[in-house]
Amino acid sequence: MSIKIIGTGSALPVKQVANGELTKLVDTSDEWIRERTGIRSRHISTGETVASLATQACQKALQNAGKEAAEVELLMVATCSPELALPCTACQVQDKLGAVHAVSFDLNAACAGFLFALHTAYAYIASGIYRNALIAGAEVLSKIIDWADRSTCILFGDGAGAVMVERCDEGGILGFVQCSDGSRGRVLSCGSRPLNNPYASQTDFETYVQMDGREVFSFAVRQVPASIEEVLEKTGLTVEDVDLFVLHQANRRIIDGICKRLKADPDRFPVNLDRVGNMSSAAIPVLLDELNAQGRLSAGMTLVLSGFGAGLTYGACVIKW
Ligand code: ACO
Repeated sequence: MSIKIIGTGSALPVKQVANGELTKLVDTSDEWIRERTGIRSRHISTGETVASLATQACQKALQNAGKEAAEVELLMVATCSPELALPCTACQVQDKLGAVHAVSFDLNAACAGFLFALHTAYAYIASGIYRNALIAGAEVLSKIIDWADRSTCILFGDGAGAVMVERCDEGGILGFVQCSDGSRGRVLSCGSRPLNNPYASQTDFETYVQMDGREVFSFAVRQVPASIEEVLEKTGLTVEDVDLFVLHQANRRIIDGICKRLKADPDRFPVNLDRVGNMSSAAIPVLLDELNAQGRLSAGMTLVLSGFGAGLTYGACVIKW
């Protein structure tokens, strides 16, 4: 028994911001951004919220799956940039969708969040607790980025993607691995709210994304291929058996580095980060939805999904589509 993806959806903010526009904000250039990251443009919220983008993506995934909101049993939103601390984004989405029977909660594992949520759905459904799940990865990272910091503001974009999954007897998720290394949390971090009560307060507190870019880069190109090889070994497959590697879209050089280490054909690594930037937990489901809409996913194909990010967290799964 396993779970399979039966529908996908995505939503992006209307406003697109090309690299050239960022040169008006910070000392950078289109050429520098393209060469170092592969990013040309990204979508940035001018009012769209994590909850509204997640709702749109979920509506489309439901429609694509031919399901009604009232049929959903489990609803998870992976996000690290929610509007509200309370209630969670998934409960807001549940309300907007009318998914009245869905147990709804958020999950935060940064850029690996969507994948960890997918694995969580697998565990719930495999154990017989639920029969289906609606899973979104949604971010408005533009809220937590310092727009005066040229080393980070060029990297990120806003958006949401979603998938509907249900129990299946054949194919679907064949295996997965997931890992966390909390000892390297400082490599990529963002404060939420400082301690501020009648007895104590924090003054030196950073509420914007802080990143050691080189550390992130070397972590990704070492750990991600290792975790992909591990999950392939677990499922009795090799790199050659994989039709598409749907990786977290952090930056082009990371994807090229992973491809090189795996000695795989670059054509099997679809990329959309040139148009959308790094959307953290939304990256994988948005790319999956684009591939699905383009008709590039057909029954029986073997996919590897791989997410990695702050925590540090990383994981991979093999899917028979
Ligand atoms: N434009 C122009 N110059 C810049 C910019 C910019 N936007 N940003 C940094 N620089 C400068 C630096 O100040 C530095 O100048 P200096 O030599 O005078 O000090 C120079 O460029 C080189 O800086 P580095 O940080 O060493 O540049 P690097 O080649 O490492 O590239 C980058 C930076 C693109 C961030 C790279 O480290 C990287 O790709 N890291 C991975 C980070 C990532 O993708 N994070 C995404 C979030 S995490 C995740 O999703 C997994």
